Amino acid sequence: MDNILKYIEEKNPAHAAKLNSWIKNMDTDYFSESELFFARYKKFIESTGKKLEYGIDCYLKLCAQMVFERIEFIRFGKYANTSLEEVEKSIYLNPEMFEYHMHGLVFAQFLWKEQYARFNFFSKNIGNYLKPQDKYLEIGGGHALYIVEAMKKGGDANSFQLVDISPSSIQLAQGITEGLNILFLLKNIFDFSPTEKFDFITMGEVIEHVENPLSLLIKVRELLTDSGMAYITTPANAPTLDHIYLFNNATEIRDLLNEAGFEIVIEKTQYAEDVSEERAQKLKVALMYAAFVKPKK
Ligand SMILES: C[S@@+](CC[C@H](N)C(=O)[O-])C[C@H]1O[C@@H](n2cnc3c(N)ncnc32)[C@H](O)[C@@H]1O
Repeated sequence: MDNILKYIEEKNPAHAAKLNSWIKNMDTDYFSESELFFARYKKFIESTGKKLEYGIDCYLKLCAQMVFERIEFIRFGKYANTSLEEVEKSIYLNPEMFEYHMHGLVFAQFLWKEQYARFNFFSKNIGNYLKPQDKYLEIGGGHALYIVEAMKKGGDANSFQLVDISPSSIQLAQGITEGLNILFLLKNIFDFSPTEKFDFITMGEVIEHVENPLSLLIKVRELLTDSGMAYITTPANAPTLDHIYLFNNATEIRDLLNEAGFEIVIEKTQYAEDVSEERAQKLKVALMYAAFVKPKK
């Protein structure tokens, strides 16, 4: 972590100061988890002929892009793209853009406090819900941080599958999880047969990428066994080029989970900035929402 922060300080001292102000108070778990994850990423990125600094540059580019997106969001009150077609044009069909975006997100998992909060919430609780012999599915696995943690906490007895619609995401996830026994599927989750069932499904930061998040949540419900559990996260007021569906607050997210047939077991929210609740709502500060949910009886 030290070398990552040092590199950021050279490139963007103001951003490094902001990161240092919260990272300096983190516990030993934070430092050991981040070291392990970045070591996996470093091994992967070096195997492609690039250096760790490439990923940090992607992260800094992502941060700069997000400042621009936020200014536009505050001005117009909506996300820049509202259809999948627009996002396909600007990101998904533009491999260079998609790659910097995904590699940037790798670093955001430990450098943004709201991203780390949802990982920490997952890490602290997954062991209570994932049982031996469970079939685990991760939808939109991206950087694979969550599936690696599930394997660590869930033990070897489970079967682990990761599905993603993007070849670049699958490549990144495969690279980061080298040596782990995971079945990777390059597929749209909507193409899964409803007869296929899983005991645990993780779907982090995916529903804001689709035009109709309710249909995606209903699909997840359909793929879960009746006694199954899911971990679902999504942000509110978080403008980025590939976010289509705008949640204005946590209540809208809870209502949608409820409408899709889920009961919230435990949840966590975290604003991206240290401000009062009142000010966060007024300034539309990005909010992370995460919940362990189960099918309603
Ligand atoms: C922002 S990333 C989320 C990464 C990670 N799950 C996390 O929590 O940070 C969203 C991922 O969802 C994938 N995705 C979007 N729509 C999908 C679909 N219909 N089926 C499978 N994967 C999808 C994207 O390709 C991308 O890798």
